[in-house]
Amino acid sequence: MASIEKSSKKNIEANPLIIPDSYEGYSLSYFNLPLHYRNDLKSVLIPYGFVQDRIEALASRIFDDLHIGMPEQLICMCVLKGGYRFFSDLVSKIQNENRLRSDRSLPMSLEFIRTRSYINDQSSGSLEIIGLGDLNKIKNKNVLIIEDIIDSGITMVTLKEELEKFHPKTIRVASLITKRRKDKKCVFKPDYCGFEVPDHFVVGYALDYNEYFRDLEHICILKESGVTKYKVTPS
Ligand code: HPA
Ligand code: MG
Repeated sequence: MASIEKSSKKNIEANPLIIPDSYEGYSLSYFNLPLHYRNDLKSVLIPYGFVQDRIEALASRIFDDLHIGMPEQLICMCVLKGGYRFFSDLVSKIQNENRLRSDRSLPMSLEFIRTRSYINDQSSGSLEIIGLGDLNKIKNKNVLIIEDIIDSGITMVTLKEELEKFHPKTIRVASLITKRRKDKKCVFKPDYCGFEVPDHFVVGYALDYNEYFRDLEHICILKESGVTKYKVTPS
């Protein structure tokens, strides 16, 4: 019977699809975008369909790496709010693997936590972690944290440290996006990653700017006018 310990010996590398600095995305004119956001976006960096294809590939890799013998479950932990769409699509695509494969399976349970560190397009430096429910349930369990974006990496380092206090058996991290920052290196590398993007503020597919743009299908680059229009004054 396969186990996570056994599969952890495999060489797990994030292997993201790298979007080069020279690529500035597709013109908005090729897409149907909500009228209320059209003037505040620069371009479509990653169209929705492309996101789905990449998540399918990630789901298949995660399934192959982490399939375990019943009744041990993988706890898929959604980092709200930004991670909710990636979480939902990733879990659903792992479920597809479970339906279609008769040689192995990956039972899952679903948990939700909430973090907040960004005000406007800057990290506030402090991280709020709101556990939804009793985190003692991750004790001795295998956990997969599912996050939308890793930027400085500080949020994930802090979150992992916090979760370690509840003594899980293993913790892995899947992030849809990592950012290639110009100023300094990201301090965290996820185990699974969809895309590595240039240093732009990106929105859509549940990624927000001050709670706006979550209701946008494609992952887009925010324009300066959008930064200004939806800016808030930190209280
Ligand atoms: N977009 C949305 N949320 C974020 C980003 C981003 O580019 N970086 C860190 N949090
Ligand atoms: Mg986020």
